[in-house]
Amino acid sequence: TPDSPTQRVGGKVLESLPSKRHSLRMYSLDNVFTMQEWHDFVLKMQRFLPGLKQSDLSFWMEPKMDGLAMELVYRKGLLDYALTRGDGETGEVVTENMRTVRNMPVRLRGLKREDGSTIMPELLEVRGEVLMAKKDFEALNARQIKRGGKVFANPRNAAAGSVRQLDSSVAAERPLRFISYGIGRVEWPGGHPAWKTQGEVMQGVREMGFSIAPGAGLCTSIEEVEDWYHQLAGQRESFPFELDGAVAKVNDLGLQEELGFTARAPRFAVAFKFAAMQAATRLNDISIQVGRTGVLTPVAELEPVNVGGVMVSRATLHNEDEIRAKGVLIGDIVLVQRAGDVIPEVVGPITDRRDGTEREFTFPLECPECHNHVHREPGEAAWRCVNRACPAMRRESIKHFVSKAGLDIQGIGGKLIEQLIDAELIKNPADLFHLKKEDILGLERMAEKSAVNT
Ligand code: IVH
Repeated sequence: TPDSPTQRVGGKVLESLPSKRHSLRMYSLDNVFTMQEWHDFVLKMQRFLPGLKQSDLSFWMEPKMDGLAMELVYRKGLLDYALTRGDGETGEVVTENMRTVRNMPVRLRGLKREDGSTIMPELLEVRGEVLMAKKDFEALNARQIKRGGKVFANPRNAAAGSVRQLDSSVAAERPLRFISYGIGRVEWPGGHPAWKTQGEVMQGVREMGFSIAPGAGLCTSIEEVEDWYHQLAGQRESFPFELDGAVAKVNDLGLQEELGFTARAPRFAVAFKFAAMQAATRLNDISIQVGRTGVLTPVAELEPVNVGGVMVSRATLHNEDEIRAKGVLIGDIVLVQRAGDVIPEVVGPITDRRDGTEREFTFPLECPECHNHVHREPGEAAWRCVNRACPAMRRESIKHFVSKAGLDIQGIGGKLIEQLIDAELIKNPADLFHLKKEDILGLERMAEKSAVNT
């Protein structure tokens, strides 16, 4: 039967993905980036519906999930077909791939009525986002690297690539999820539930078997919406999947209908965006950093770029295999991403922007600091400097010793350690404990007070 678990393993291979029209257009959302723009958005609603008071407005709030939009069409409770958003009018039919998404019901649960009976819609179009959780995405990429397969730039690209597979057994191996955020058409066989708000719709969708976004809920004033947005922004890093903002929707369905749509987007909903955590910039060069254990780490030397409010000019490339798997060349325009306190990393090249001047990077055969041999153990990703007295290793191990991960010594950091080594005042961590105030005062830019502190 079409709703059997055996239908979830995939296997059908298509020649191409057929297109199909949406019965109701799938709109996009307008964006706001600041509180001012959010207030302007509310004012615009009030201009469109004179008489609409701010105190009458409640908003259903959800995270804006960074995946791809999907419509699932159910007839008499069974999945009929799945359609990507496409251009909003016409999408691609990806039913077989969506069947493999484990948290998407292939058969709906009926809704309980007050008299205890259940009711099943004749037709239901459920809309939502197909995405990959961050940890599933990382595990997938690790698997792809091991297999020599394609490495995905981000969870969104991985989800989009997986959903548009022609071979559904490939999609079945990809850890996709479907999170609902709304409905399209719905037809009930009489005595239908009287949904009056977005919140009630989402509750109904959940009862029928869909996942809805964690943290979704109601805000009863425009100030509450602001607090909700800030709270979500604070959880962005720890959220199980990538978010690019919050979505605020007028909760009252009657008001939604009155407000209607512009050519592009609803007037009753808006995306309140976060600063992008990815940016494109030029990879000027790749340098090599020697760590405290002698591992040589390739570092991207970038044209400085603002990533989510922080200037980034260097980013890790991890190791030789990753450079190859990502396919980055020196001179490429690359995508750079930052996540919280984590070191920025290069996601991959934007190959469309190549002009033929880019060149491949070759890993050095000697340590850039002590010029000794470097060695790579079979089965290991890292090249290491073989010189146990390598000055870089020594310097980095003293830095590690004073850092948070070590003794967490206050008032001494990387710069000071470099000065102390250059002045031949320390050679190893133990030497730190024999330092005198005069030793430190003799260093450049060291004042009495900070010398005492140190
Ligand atoms: S509502 C008529 N809610 O954002 C309103 N969209 O930029 C339709 N998205 O195409 C969209 N999370 O793919 C809505 N909680 C959410 C969403 C969400 C992500 C996506 C959706 C849409 C795009 C618009």
